[in-house]
Amino acid sequence: MRTEVAELGQECWEELARGRGSLAVVPGSFDPVTLGHVDVIERAAALFGSVIVGVADNAAKRPLLDVATRLELVAGCVADLAGVRVARLDGLLAEFCRAVGATAIVKGLRGGHDWGHEAPMALVNRELTGVETVLLVAAPDWAHVSSSIVKDVARHGGDVGSYVSPDVAAALARAFGRASARVGVGWRGALD
Ligand code: PNS
Repeated sequence: MRTEVAELGQECWEELARGRGSLAVVPGSFDPVTLGHVDVIERAAALFGSVIVGVADNAAKRPLLDVATRLELVAGCVADLAGVRVARLDGLLAEFCRAVGATAIVKGLRGGHDWGHEAPMALVNRELTGVETVLLVAAPDWAHVSSSIVKDVARHGGDVGSYVSPDVAAALARAFGRASARVGVGWRGALD
């Protein structure tokens, strides 16, 4: 893991040396990754040039999807985004940022509830290693979308196609013991 992180940091810094900006980490549980997450990742890449999406194991949160599945689904969603890499986040986020040489942590902010959750973490992360957190206000299209709501809709057999990629919808269907996901026009409509 240590070598992997070092190599990841090296790759990113080589890109920086070629003038691509600086490096940010977009961390999360991504259980599952939503189109709101993808929007934040895309905007972080536009701001910083290089982004590592850190997929936290977070066993304490008892995720629905295992970390390997979450990593694969995030990788699928960001495959077309330049300058974006995906890595497993083990241990402290602040230490991970230091190991890869990230200037900032970027997260989305949907409302007051997110602020209450994010502000203390941002302060602790800065106290730990000096890394700053940049909170991007969620785009109106995604301000109501959360992994928890998506899971709840999927758990009851609803169509989550407006909020997640087809692969994520299929993974949720499998996780809830269904043969296939109900996916409407949402995914296409959301991207067009
Ligand atoms: O998507 P989430 O569940 O809100 O993401 C939470 C995450 C992964 C950002 C947070 O749990 C985290 O930073 N985990 C790594 C361990 C750590 O650094 N904890 C102290 C945070 S101040």
